[in-house]
Amino acid sequence: MTLQNPLRQPIGVFDSGVGGLTVLQALRRRMPYRDFIYLGDTARVPYGRKPPEMVVDFATGIADFLCGMGVKGLVVACNTASAVALPKLVERCPVPAWGVIDPGVQAAIGATVSGRVGVIGTKGTIASGAYQRRLEAKGMQVWAQACPMLVHIVEEGLADSPEAEILVRHYLSGRPEIDALILGCTHYPLLKGPIQRVAGAAVHLVDSAEVTAETVNAAFEPAPAGSAPGRVIHFVTGDPVAFGHTAKVIGGVEGEVISLPVAELAG
Ligand code: DGL
Repeated sequence: MTLQNPLRQPIGVFDSGVGGLTVLQALRRRMPYRDFIYLGDTARVPYGRKPPEMVVDFATGIADFLCGMGVKGLVVACNTASAVALPKLVERCPVPAWGVIDPGVQAAIGATVSGRVGVIGTKGTIASGAYQRRLEAKGMQVWAQACPMLVHIVEEGLADSPEAEILVRHYLSGRPEIDALILGCTHYPLLKGPIQRVAGAAVHLVDSAEVTAETVNAAFEPAPAGSAPGRVIHFVTGDPVAFGHTAKVIGGVEGEVISLPVAELAG
């Protein structure tokens, strides 16, 4: 697919669906003059339950597509893809690539006093051990829990419902005493309310969207004075209307949404 790219040195951001918009929003708050291309692989979401090799294949195809669009950096705004595919993308891409795992780990280490840290994420992220290995290497005691239903409850627009709190209570019921909890999935920042209520006010919630945006922002020069506001183009592999609808939960989509056949993303 050839796109007349009207953007100025955009940064590419991708996720399996709408969840990565939380990372895009955090990036845009810090880099309001920067252009972005967001790719939501909504035809193939969720990644969290798929075999790692399949997720690596999807992520590779998407990275090649975005690099072909001339992005100046690539943000893997998906914990599952970051957990299993980031090393391959870093090796393959001609531009810097960031995932959401290392910034989240760094922030959790900064936040904990006791050294007892929890992490919640998709089945794929937790099974990969990506968070656990990094935290343990820094001497942390780690409690990790996969919470597969939480993505669905957010996608259904029920993030602020009693049902969401019941699910959060279920998943957090086995936790030991921790003082920091990594929200290791792009959808979970939307569940901060119920998660904080269940975990207790003393537990610091680590939102990897915010810390990732800080890391990426630090890698680029600030925009010159008088720059025009940045623009965003979204590509979605599934139904653009459904993408816009689901994205309302996350504050909506600002900018054009273009349908992209999955066949364009062959890895
Ligand atoms: N974006 C995924 C993540 O952060 C959650 C949704 C999915 O399973 O694809 O892990």
